[in-house]
Amino acid sequence: MNKIIVSIILTLVLVLGINKITDTLYYVAKPEKSAYQVDGTTQISSVSSTESNTENLESENIMTLFASTSAADGAKIFKKCAACHSIAQGAGNKIGPTLWGVLGRKAGSISDYKYSKAMVEYGKVWTFDQMNGFLIKPKNWVKGTKMSFAGLKNENERAAVILYMNENSGNPLPLN
Ligand code: HEC
Repeated sequence: MNKIIVSIILTLVLVLGINKITDTLYYVAKPEKSAYQVDGTTQISSVSSTESNTENLESENIMTLFASTSAADGAKIFKKCAACHSIAQGAGNKIGPTLWGVLGRKAGSISDYKYSKAMVEYGKVWTFDQMNGFLIKPKNWVKGTKMSFAGLKNENERAAVILYMNENSGNPLPLN
């Protein structure tokens, strides 16, 4: 009986002792911790708005660009897209959705293709202007798109490939 009481007391002393030790440790550690917090950095993200402005300006003259290029030129440019996209009628999705009839279609609307959330939310109709803006730099036009393609910097290349895509459609958009 005595032994039991003694061991209970010993355990209590031990537990209290450990608590004391951790308290002390914590106390010692504390200043270090808050020093870290003071050191914490604030991130400043600057987004330049000028870039998107110039893109808007560029996309305004897409119709005039059509005059100086052709769908046949566009077929050559489309080779850059063909690794990820099919364009023939009835051909299915690849890494990217099928682009048969994409002009005039709502973005993110091929039902058996799994788009990024960003593309579904973007949800605009692919007009010539929208397509032109997108192809300059896809990641700028649809923030969060999973299309990993740098873009077509050359406006004639964009116009050509847009013409080509417009021809590969059951219902091409009018060119004027
Ligand atoms: C490395 C693969 C890849 C390449 C190269 C690529 N794309 Fe894409 N593309 C994708 C993916 C993936 C998506 C789906 C994007 C999403 O869901 O965010 C997409 C989406 C699109 C869409 C939207 C279609 C829709 O149904 O709304 C268009 C238009 C498009 N691409 C055009 C092009 C054109 C034109 C080119 C060539 C100049 C090209 N892509 C090159 C992978 C690619």
